[in-house]
Amino acid sequence: MQMFRLALAPVLALVAGLASAADTVVDDRYLANHGDGANWAAYGHDSSEQRYSPLDQINTGNVKELGLAWALDMPGERALIGTPLAVDGVLYFTGTWSYTRAVDAKTGKLLWEYDPKVIEHAGDRLRIMWESNKGPAYYKGKLVISTVDGRLVALDAKTGKMLWETMTIDPRRAYYITGAPKVFRDKVIIGNGGTEHEAARGYVTAYDIETGKQAWRFYIVPGNPAEGFEDKAMEMAAKTWTGEWWKYGGGGNVWNGITYDPEFNQVLLGTGNGSPWNQKIRSPGGGDNLFLCSIVALDADTGAYKWHYQTVPGETWDYNSSMDIVLADLKYGGQTIKALMHAPKNGFFYVINRANGELLSAEKFGKVTWAERIDLKTGRPVEIKGARYDNGEAMVWPSPVGAHSWHPMSYSPQTGLVYIPAIEMAGVFVDKGMDLKAWKSPHFHVDPGVVFATADTPKDWSTASLLAWDPVKQQKVWSQPLPPNWNPGTMVTKGNLVFQGRADGELVAYDATSGAKLWSVNAGSGLTAAPITYSVDGKQYVAQLVGWGGAGLLTGSLAAQHGWKYGVHPRRLLTFALGGKAPMPPSPPPAFAKPLDVPDFKVDDKLAAEGLALYAKSCVQCHGSGVVSGGTAPDLRESPMPLTLAGFKSVVVDGGRLARGMPKFAEITDGELERLQHYIRQQARASLAAAAAH
Ligand code: HEC
Repeated sequence: MQMFRLALAPVLALVAGLASAADTVVDDRYLANHGDGANWAAYGHDSSEQRYSPLDQINTGNVKELGLAWALDMPGERALIGTPLAVDGVLYFTGTWSYTRAVDAKTGKLLWEYDPKVIEHAGDRLRIMWESNKGPAYYKGKLVISTVDGRLVALDAKTGKMLWETMTIDPRRAYYITGAPKVFRDKVIIGNGGTEHEAARGYVTAYDIETGKQAWRFYIVPGNPAEGFEDKAMEMAAKTWTGEWWKYGGGGNVWNGITYDPEFNQVLLGTGNGSPWNQKIRSPGGGDNLFLCSIVALDADTGAYKWHYQTVPGETWDYNSSMDIVLADLKYGGQTIKALMHAPKNGFFYVINRANGELLSAEKFGKVTWAERIDLKTGRPVEIKGARYDNGEAMVWPSPVGAHSWHPMSYSPQTGLVYIPAIEMAGVFVDKGMDLKAWKSPHFHVDPGVVFATADTPKDWSTASLLAWDPVKQQKVWSQPLPPNWNPGTMVTKGNLVFQGRADGELVAYDATSGAKLWSVNAGSGLTAAPITYSVDGKQYVAQLVGWGGAGLLTGSLAAQHGWKYGVHPRRLLTFALGGKAPMPPSPPPAFAKPLDVPDFKVDDKLAAEGLALYAKSCVQCHGSGVVSGGTAPDLRESPMPLTLAGFKSVVVDGGRLARGMPKFAEITDGELERLQHYIRQQARASLAAAAAH
């Protein structure tokens, strides 16, 4: 026996050695460190979510020599908004409808592709879906992707072969997934979205990464008390709700921010807004409505509640806390604190002690008019009177787009600064004239319980900036203006460079200390994805997915001003290195819709107003507010399709363009189509008149 074992051992070692000659074992130990920077193995680089790379071959001294190493064009792609991963010289990324690719990181050669066939799986859920996905997760040789129709799919990272897939939502409900899965301790976790489309009750589920079997699930808000609570946390949360909230779902969906904190073996959730947004409907007697808009810490092994901190008690503005949660050791007067940093939509920058959820500091990083400040004694905001549209109407900063949206921030332990893609924009909240008591949750269409996206957003309604923020002093160190307003996430490197793309298609490198602009290149299309960096054979690369997309595009003229019209500009992966000499592939100039003039069409204002109500429910998400498309779908003001009832019907009701992502609305009647026609012509005419007046 002993002999046999001795003889076999070297053979086994040899076989293992051959199979994994250069393979990095991406496990918890690996992800807990920055490593040497060769790989970008997780969404936020490593479990800290800092998006800090220890590579410094490209640095402030030589970044001017950065040039294109290779480009991969991807015809047919639309919204490339995710963060690619780089492991052992291979890039992995998800694209439109979670289409997944593996590419040689040195040459751009396609190694394998995997199509999760989302449109076929989705059915009617196509109508509530974003086409975009924020990226895959990598763990011990597996790549796990999420699909917008609600699945997790595990692939063999070497071959792209599917290992398992599991449905994470009830497909009869209007939930969807756009977020990246996260991995820890042989599990993979995912949340979902749906707060605006359904009586949604948010939850996260952890699955065994080997088998796809459910390990645990945690609900964010309590269900109907009559059916009993899942756990003590829900029992506690239920005391902060009033009325019959469970009929409206409550919300809290975790659609983005999830961080695994290895030092406390806890999962930190950034939870979503209320379903519906309007608290007067959801919880008419008020209350904090736990665990909406919170950071919730769970035991990573069991999913049991540990602690929470709520950023917006009783939320009513869509101010979710779904933004990224970044871990760092911060120095507070001689003491090192294991902190988390969080810059949610509500405009405050929070530093929290991860050991117990204690708030250390919170300051405004942009214009905020819903609250004066956060009281550090109670940890609660001091609200400004009237902000809750108590009288039926209020203009409040920030807007539902947020002072910071999901585009991830980064943190450099070297400069001690956080780099935030910040937005300054007001939101107008109106529920005057709505019958709040009669309001019903939507089912597969948009209705947040407050008037929403019923007018075009003017192109100068908002400003944006890249903000370098000192999290300890809680103050701005420098900022650079950005085009309004949907700019990508940031990355920072040991080379003391901050990289960030822009809505206008520029990819820029800044000096991380001073904010000086050191290098830039035009990518030929609007950017929404955060860049990454990695190295192969000792050479450092910077990779950028080029693809305009996401919820910010529904803001009509605000998004359309950059000219990234539907279907016109290329989608690609660009990779840069020092001395790179590859020519930038061509791209057409910015393009703008030309609304059709149809003089014979007599617009009936009453029908148009009814058309607007239908449009806001079912079309605005993709075709844009005020019928001005930001690029997700064709601009209907210039489309000939709505001009005839037959043509309009073939696309909208019969599903003639289903395979290309235009959902089927079988329930829409001829009368409703007619109302939509009046609204579209009214908007087309208004834009023509405005253009003529200039
Ligand atoms: C989930 C996103 C989404 C929603 C919601 C949506 N559309 Fe579309 N729509 C698209 C996309 C994408 C296309 C382009 C498909 C293609 O490339 O052929 C499209 C195409 C169209 C076209 C054809 C335009 C042309 O000139 O080719 C019409 C008309 C249209 N949509 C009307 C509507 C109406 C009316 C609604 C609401 C009832 C609606 N859509 C809701 C995504 C959407």
